[in-house]
Amino acid sequence: MILSIDQGTTSTRAIAFEVSDAGAFSAAAVSQIELQQHFPKPGWVEHDAGEIWTATLQTCREVIRKAGGIDRFAAIGITNQRETAVLWDAQTGEPLHRAIVWQDRRTADVTGDLVKQGHEPDVQARTGLILDPYFSASKYAWLLDAVPGSRERAEAGEVKLGTIESWLVWKLTGGRAHVTDATNAARTSLMDLQTLSWQADLATLFRVPMHALPEIRGCADRLGDCDPALFGRAVPIHGAAGDQQAALVGHGAIQPGEAKITYGTGAFLVANVGAEPVVSTNRLLGTLAYSVNGQTAYALEGSIFSAGSAIQWLRDGLGVISQSRQSEAMAQSLPDNGGVYLVPGFTGLGAPWWSPEARGTITGLTRDSGPAHLVRAALESLAYQTRDLLDALAADGAPRLERLKVDGGVTANALAMQFVADICEVEVERPAFQEMTALGAAKLAALGVGLIDRLDIAPAETPAVWTPRMDTATRSRLLAGWKAAIRATLAAAE
Ligand code: G3P
Repeated sequence: MILSIDQGTTSTRAIAFEVSDAGAFSAAAVSQIELQQHFPKPGWVEHDAGEIWTATLQTCREVIRKAGGIDRFAAIGITNQRETAVLWDAQTGEPLHRAIVWQDRRTADVTGDLVKQGHEPDVQARTGLILDPYFSASKYAWLLDAVPGSRERAEAGEVKLGTIESWLVWKLTGGRAHVTDATNAARTSLMDLQTLSWQADLATLFRVPMHALPEIRGCADRLGDCDPALFGRAVPIHGAAGDQQAALVGHGAIQPGEAKITYGTGAFLVANVGAEPVVSTNRLLGTLAYSVNGQTAYALEGSIFSAGSAIQWLRDGLGVISQSRQSEAMAQSLPDNGGVYLVPGFTGLGAPWWSPEARGTITGLTRDSGPAHLVRAALESLAYQTRDLLDALAADGAPRLERLKVDGGVTANALAMQFVADICEVEVERPAFQEMTALGAAKLAALGVGLIDRLDIAPAETPAVWTPRMDTATRSRLLAGWKAAIRATLAAAE
């Protein structure tokens, strides 16, 4: 068995995967704990790294118990929300501040200034990333400025920086390993995509001491052995990848030209582009697909900041639904959107607009607009945002997708998936087993420890498929409405 840890934005999950002799994976036990979100100021989002660690320990212990004990496990794989920045004390192992979550916009002025100073073309050419507060580097610098003395202590090796997988490996190994994997390192703005190494001049530009950064490893490398005191045995941690990259591996979409989109809190399109990095000219991100045993595959990525979180907002913020799954019936109660559009820029807009100051916008309200219109507009926004990414991908020269592989909570909503197929003019394929992210981490660890010898195994069960059926005139009218809503959102942010 492989113990897969999936530390996401809204919850921490551990899954025990049984690996058959033929290399098939089946989930034998699952444990999940919700994660508290902290919003100390508008545009700020924080997590308690201590809570993340406690939940990881608890979910792992539960899964190990349910699966029959630690002796059944060959390795641990980790996948995680990317970019979220943690600062901790190497001596005490305690976080020195709440973690700054990927969605957090507090460093928008820092990255905005770097854009004004003309740094973006160089940063993008080397890291694949545009300048935006989304990425870890400006968050690291903010933490070091906010915690008195931490910058000096970082230089002295007493304080460590890392994204969530680094933090978890540090805790799991009892402070013996300070490592990251290349896919997570690719999201900091500090790693060169070709050499997969930290760049001293970028570290200086972002004011991050290189000394405090973790060592970069491959996604199926041995990252360390977990402290035997935690689970009763020193199981090797043999793989890590950022959650969107892990989902790509989970889908088995590892050939150039294959792509997946995961609809979680945000939505992330990752398209495998092969053995050479591609610099987007259409505001997508150049990033890694994976780096395994010295072989690296690259990807273009479109990052949407709010997808499932728009549905959560309908439930928890507006109270127009009490459970997410009600959204489908409510949206279906209307013949169409009635001209109402919701641009879910709650934490700014990501690709391809990159407007950190944008905020959520509703357009087209009339006196007969009701809660169902808002619900429908929120669901439809998933498809419009996906279309914007696929258009950018095509403009970057990627071949037209045969099929778009999807996963994530919102894909349970058949109306939303049909709408994605209709608006994006692509077949949409949802695997029967939904935990692609955790599966990807399990596959990487299984590869690392020698239980399997290849990653391109697609899930065995028959997937659900949605085929486009909307007429061109309707699609064009809806897309024109969406574009007008985007224009209004961007104009209001200026
Ligand atoms: O880049 C952020 C992403 O990795 C978060 O994913 O699934 O936790 O919303 P998720």
